[in-house]
Amino acid sequence: MRSFTFHNPTRLIFGKGQLEQLKTLVPKYGSSVLLVYGGGSIKRSGLYDKTTALLNEIGAQIVELSGVEPNPRLSTVHKGVDLCTSEKIDLILAVGGGSVIDCAKAIAVGAKYDGDMWDFAERKAAAQDALPLGVVLTMAATGSEMNGGSVITNEETQEKLGWGSPYAFPTFSILDPEHTYSLPKDQTVYGMVDMMSHVLETYFHLDSNTPVQDGFCESVLRAVIDAGPELIEDLENYELRETVMYSGTMALNNVLSMGLAGDWATHNIEHAVSAVYDIPHGGGLAILFPNWMKHSLNTDPERFKKLAVNVFGVDPAGKSAEEAGLEGIEALRNFWNSIGAPSTLADYEIDGSRIEEMADKAMKFGPFGNFNKLQRDDVVAIYKASL
Ligand code: NZQ
Ligand code: ZN
Repeated sequence: MRSFTFHNPTRLIFGKGQLEQLKTLVPKYGSSVLLVYGGGSIKRSGLYDKTTALLNEIGAQIVELSGVEPNPRLSTVHKGVDLCTSEKIDLILAVGGGSVIDCAKAIAVGAKYDGDMWDFAERKAAAQDALPLGVVLTMAATGSEMNGGSVITNEETQEKLGWGSPYAFPTFSILDPEHTYSLPKDQTVYGMVDMMSHVLETYFHLDSNTPVQDGFCESVLRAVIDAGPELIEDLENYELRETVMYSGTMALNNVLSMGLAGDWATHNIEHAVSAVYDIPHGGGLAILFPNWMKHSLNTDPERFKKLAVNVFGVDPAGKSAEEAGLEGIEALRNFWNSIGAPSTLADYEIDGSRIEEMADKAMKFGPFGNFNKLQRDDVVAIYKASL
């Protein structure tokens, strides 16, 4: 294991009916609340009415920023930053999925920074402060509800960049699995692919003596694989929504990655695709991840075999580590296909015409990947294998 310091400052509030806690949490930060949400799902589900009723009960002044896009845009972040200044906001409350939360994080740091928060995404500066941020999660996927990461799209440059800061952790996050009942089947699938990908990014590392971390990862993967097929046929099943919601948070709140450095190349490769084509992040990962795995199999075949055996039940008898590992990769692809995830870029009508441009975007900060360091040629090869 590597030496590490673990500190996650987010107060995680999980379970049925926990929205009520807004009444005690919000007043701790002040009375002026910027309510950030997306394209209207929370209005249709009734969560908007419930949230504003609770805020009204405690006499909060509500300022709204609605219409946050999936793959949130920098221009929307700027609107939010302006509102924080003009309306003297005390607390930002994000009600939605990863996009809404990521946008709210960017607003929170942008409101305390004299320049443009895009500087943080460009690695030109680091955030030094932020407004407090509360979250009500409506989609199990990114883990943004309990981490310091955010991904923003600059529509002018067609770049989608991740950035992170200790100041970007939500101060509290309310997770009620019932708030995900209205999430349609396709988004439910994208969410499960995304959280499984976060676990896989963590699992593929080169550090030694990590039996607990590896076992935790395998357990989260098995739980999602067990719950997924039933959940997509029964979207309002509380226990299955609960399992998946908890898995999504655990997959990317830094608990699984203590003492190791996960790979994270596939996320970089996917962000370049969704920057250019604006596809759902989970959909892009379902296409790319098995191809990154095949491309990386030789880095450590034993690790691929371990995944195949412990998660997908592959029988290793009489097989080389490569053969067993490859069976595991196929099992992952088959699982994602079986729940309706896409498997080729053609599923989104993406052809090879902009591969070079996407590779340039992915290479913005140089070669990447901690398990298998990718050069430009590798990235191009993975895109080509994904057509
Ligand atoms: O906008 P609304 O109307 O709310 O609809 C959303 C959106 O259309 C809808 N939705 C969410 N909850 C719903 C619901 N519809 C009905 N009922 C509900 N309960 O689902 C659609 C997708 O939402 P979005 O927030 O975009 O999805 P997700 O949570 O997957 O977030 C994706 C974004 O997060 C970034 C991705 O790159 C992408 O930009 N990521 C953020 C990470 C982080 N901060 O740690 C890590 C991830 O790897 C990822 O890169
Ligand atoms: Zn992701």
